[in-house]
Amino acid sequence: MIFPQSKKNSYLCGAKKSYLLSPHTKQTKPKTNYNIMVSYKELGLVNTREMFAKAIAGGYAIPAFNFNNMEQLQAIIKAAATEKSPVILQVSKGARNYANATLLRYMAQGAVEYAKELGWEHPQIVLHLDHGDSFELCKSCIDSGFSSVMIDGSHLPYEENVALTKQVCDYAHQYDVTVEGELGVLAGVEDEVSSDHHTYTDPEEVIDFAQRTGCDSLAISIGTSHGAYKFTPEQCTRNAEGKLVPPPLAFDVLDAVMEKLPGFPIVLHGSSSVPQDEVDTINMFGGKLPDAIGIPEEQLRKAAKSAVCKINIDSDSRLAMTAAVRRVFAEKPGEFDPRKYLGPARDNMEKLYRHKIVNVLGSAGKAE
Ligand code: G3H
Ligand code: 13P
Ligand code: ZN
Repeated sequence: MIFPQSKKNSYLCGAKKSYLLSPHTKQTKPKTNYNIMVSYKELGLVNTREMFAKAIAGGYAIPAFNFNNMEQLQAIIKAAATEKSPVILQVSKGARNYANATLLRYMAQGAVEYAKELGWEHPQIVLHLDHGDSFELCKSCIDSGFSSVMIDGSHLPYEENVALTKQVCDYAHQYDVTVEGELGVLAGVEDEVSSDHHTYTDPEEVIDFAQRTGCDSLAISIGTSHGAYKFTPEQCTRNAEGKLVPPPLAFDVLDAVMEKLPGFPIVLHGSSSVPQDEVDTINMFGGKLPDAIGIPEEQLRKAAKSAVCKINIDSDSRLAMTAAVRRVFAEKPGEFDPRKYLGPARDNMEKLYRHKIVNVLGSAGKAE
C-alpha cells in the first residue's frame, strides 16, 4: 500500500464506479467519478527514479514525448514497444484540458496494456505532467494516476520557486511520485510563461535548489527553446551546402551544473530538431512555416551521453503529423475519412519517434 495509513480509508483506489442512490428513482445507478484517487502503480506505470539512474550510467536519455490524442499515443507506444525503449508520456496543462482528465487516466492504463499486446513484456512507461504551473494542478495529476510531475517555477523569483517546488515534492513523495523542477528560463513561450531572452541556468544556484526542494530532476536552460522557431536565420551561420547552422548549446553551463551536482538527473526542454523534410512538405502543400529552425540532432546526441537523462520533444511530432495530413489533403482532395489522413499521420509520427529513440537519444533496447 503506497498511500499513507492516515489516508488509507479516505480514498477508494482503482478505477472503480461508485454506486449512488438516486433520490428520485430510489434505484442504484453507476456513476463514474474521476476524483477517486488512483495510484499510478495500479495503472502499471513507473516513476522516473530508476529509469534516470540507469540512463545516466548508460549514457543515453529517455524520450519525453508530448501527446494530446489517440494517434500520438498509439505512435509513441508502438515506437517504444518496437524499440524496447523506456518512455515518458508527457501531458501539458493544455493537453489535459483538451483530452479530458478522466480519459487520460484510462488512456495511460490502456497504453500499458497495448504495449504488452505488442509483445513488450515489461513496459517502462511514465505518465508525466509537463510544465505544471501550480501546486493544485500537480496534486490533481498525482491523485489521478500520474507517476511524475513537473512544477515549473522558473519564471518566479528564486525563493518562490524553491517554496513552490518543495511544496510539490513534499506532497508527491508521499506517493512515490517523482518531481522535476526548473531553474533558468528558456527563450520563447513556455506554456503560459513567456520570456523574450534565455536566462541560462546559474550553476551557483543548483545545489541549494536541489537540496532545499528535494526535487528528483532539474530542467536547465542552455540554449534550447520551445516551438518550431528556435533561432532566427540571423543567429545562424551557413555550412558549405548553404544550410543554416544554429549556434551550439551552452555545454559549458551544462558541465558546470554537472560539476556541482554529480550524477543528478538533468532535463532538456525545447529539444525538437524541426526536421527540414517535414517543414518542406508542409510548405509544399499549402502550409506556411518560413525559417523554422530546431536543435541539431548531433547536439542532442552529445547531451544524451551526459547527465541529461530526459529530452523533451513535442514540436517535431506536430510537424510530422501536419506534414502527413497536408499531403493527403493535397493529393486526395476527395478524402474525408479521418482514418485515411490520421492513419498516415500516425505512421509518420511512429517513424519519427523510432528515429529519435535509436539515433538521437540512444534509448533503444534499454527496457527489454
Ligand atoms: O512545452 C510545451 C509543450 O510543447 C506543450 O505545449 O501547452 O501547447 O500543449 P502545449
Ligand atoms: P519542443 O517545442 O522543442 O518540442 O519542446 C517540447 C517541450 O519542451 C515540452 O515540454
Ligand atoms: Zn518544455
